[in-house]
Amino acid sequence: MTGSSLDRRTAFGQAAACYAARARLQQALAWRLAHHCRSLPLPPGPVLDLGAGPGTLAGALRRQRPDLDPWLVDDCAPLLQLAAAPAERQVLWDLDQGLPPQAQGAALLMSSFALHWLADPVAQLQHWLAHLAPGGWLAVAVPVAGSFDGWRQAARRAGVACTALALPDGDALRMAIEATVRPSLDRRLRFTVGYPNPLAFLRELRQLGVQGQASGRLRAGSMRRLLRHWPNDDRGRTLLTWELRLLLACRP
Ligand SMILES: C[S@@+](CC[C@H](N)C(=O)[O-])C[C@H]1O[C@@H](n2cnc3c(N)ncnc32)[C@H](O)[C@@H]1O
Repeated sequence: MTGSSLDRRTAFGQAAACYAARARLQQALAWRLAHHCRSLPLPPGPVLDLGAGPGTLAGALRRQRPDLDPWLVDDCAPLLQLAAAPAERQVLWDLDQGLPPQAQGAALLMSSFALHWLADPVAQLQHWLAHLAPGGWLAVAVPVAGSFDGWRQAARRAGVACTALALPDGDALRMAIEATVRPSLDRRLRFTVGYPNPLAFLRELRQLGVQGQASGRLRAGSMRRLLRHWPNDDRGRTLLTWELRLLLACRP
């Protein structure tokens, strides 16, 4: 285990109590992804929510498709414990090590807002696709490069490091799938969230557990410079943009 994965787990663990209340974008995205999975023709086999956290995506799928009972896979115990799913459906597992045994012959491997945390998202995506049963489905929603443009702009103008989490390239993810099969859905989504000021946004990231490796601390002087250069909209709000990619593919 690397120091940064330990930081990440500790940060998510400490934020677990707030996560469900704060993670509105994650909930909206999970609902949308589950909606796409609502009527997929699935072969027999297990369904897994990878990087499930408190089971946001598994819960959204269960509400839209009650016949499915997904396994929840995550390596952060405090987040998993918040899930409504019974403990025997929860798998404490580090996805950087590949998939857990429960994924053998999977009918559906799905993941929302988690793939970008893995050390090599492209390799893991190919690994996931290869572990599906023939006719099984991959359904992924993930923030990608291009997000946080206001933050990057502020860092450039202020001459300080941009400590936002590095996100995978959306086209590289698509190509990772295309090495095996053409995705049946490839959707780009852009969400902009307004905050009263940049500190409110950074506080929210902390409350969601997205710190540590995601936003390494700046010294106080650099942070003040960064905040001074953060672009506002014409109503004085700080705008934060997420670029998201939704990908669905069926293994031949
Ligand atoms: C932003 S949360 C998203 C949780 C949930 N999918 C949702 O949409 O609300 C990212 C999740 O990925 C998990 N995660 C990150 N890296 C992981 C790894 N290497 N192995 C297992 N889970 C991991 C974190 O513990 C966390 O629960």
